[in-house]
Amino acid sequence: MAVAADELEIARSEGVAKVVCIGCGRHYPTQEAHDSCLSCGALLEVQHPLEILRSSLNFDWLERRKNERAFPYNSGVWRWRELVAPFPDETLVSRNEGNTNLYEDARLAKYVGLQADSFWLKHEGENPTGSFKDRGMTVGISHAKWVGAKYVACASSGNTSSALAGYAARAGIPAVTFVPAGKVALGKLSQTFAYGAKTIQIDGSFDLALDLVQQVCHAAGGYLVNSVNPFRLEGQKTIIFEALDQLNWQAPDWIVVPGGNLGNTSAFGKALYELRALGFLGQKLPRIATIQAEGSAPFYNYYQNGFKDFQAVSPETIATAIRIGNPVNLPKAQRALEWTDGVVERVSDGEIMEAKYRLDRTGIGGEPAAAATLAGIRKLTANGTIQPGDKVVGILTGHILKDSDSIINYHADPANPGANAPIKVEANLEAILKLLN
Ligand code: F0G
Repeated sequence: MAVAADELEIARSEGVAKVVCIGCGRHYPTQEAHDSCLSCGALLEVQHPLEILRSSLNFDWLERRKNERAFPYNSGVWRWRELVAPFPDETLVSRNEGNTNLYEDARLAKYVGLQADSFWLKHEGENPTGSFKDRGMTVGISHAKWVGAKYVACASSGNTSSALAGYAARAGIPAVTFVPAGKVALGKLSQTFAYGAKTIQIDGSFDLALDLVQQVCHAAGGYLVNSVNPFRLEGQKTIIFEALDQLNWQAPDWIVVPGGNLGNTSAFGKALYELRALGFLGQKLPRIATIQAEGSAPFYNYYQNGFKDFQAVSPETIATAIRIGNPVNLPKAQRALEWTDGVVERVSDGEIMEAKYRLDRTGIGGEPAAAATLAGIRKLTANGTIQPGDKVVGILTGHILKDSDSIINYHADPANPGANAPIKVEANLEAILKLLN
């Protein structure tokens, strides 16, 4: 399809996006694939020519763009193309990801201690493969296609591998995934091999799997699509762009997100920073609150000691998506908290599962890591960090069906709040009526 907008030409010409090392500042062309700086080994990020884009990316541009119904602008990621990646049309691998709902729910607002009209949940589980990862994956796989990758690879606690497998299948690129054996929810694991990815189970944690897949990609020419890939995070920024647009640019006080490898925390900080630079937001940015599971909380510990001493942990939690002990995006996530005056909180598995039962019971639903958002908001209002009148957006990161084992186990124990296990009954009317009464 023809690219109508003049403004896209700007991003592609003089003021083109660059990949830049956050450690030493070395630049790389966007049509090269690197997962770290070749000079100093630090993380890379995409930098957009914000000063140039500022004159063309404004509310009028956004209104025009929102009226474009055709590919790629019907995608909730590629609608923001100038702020995502300057790839040619023919390389885009998209399933119209994004465009997810922002829910209000008075019961959940009450549960977390907020006012019903100041609390929203954005459900990223509504993406094509059931998690926010699709927003990053459309960009990562499009880049892989542009650079001519032989195969794409990732380590995963299950959602990245599902998204990778699905988008690689759409693109017709072979995919390899490395997952911690026995620690990936079955919905995610089965989705990954069903889409056709080679799925390798590693006897070790996500962190070990990530280390190994990086080595494999370097040794055997694979294209790595974990969130060390700077293009992934550019797609994930659009969660924030879209949420603010849904709120008519009335910025909330808080944005709350679960943290594992800290890609979202990093991407959200960058999104807010860029929106302010472009004039879409005022000086005061919404504060980011990252929520970790108690058994997998290295970022929480690091935050608590004033970002002085980082210690990786041996991770454990029922929320397997965030069972991560050594987050690779640490420096970017720290920067995101510094930019936004953010905080980190931790919640127990019990708090996560209770919040999940409440979330599921409203019909919105989500996997355990998503429910960590709700549990975290509840804790932050209870301890006075979030004030009762604050406007809060919580991000639900994955779909309820991703982890059905966690649901079945929770509801099988009558001691759990709201336990609602299926009931077996004889197949006759009398027995059924007796039960219903
Ligand atoms: N929520 C869900 C549902 C996830 O799948 C993940 C990460 C996170 C939260 C944490 O996000 O890493 O940006 O801090 N899942 C990765 C995976 C690690 O492999 O699917 P983060």
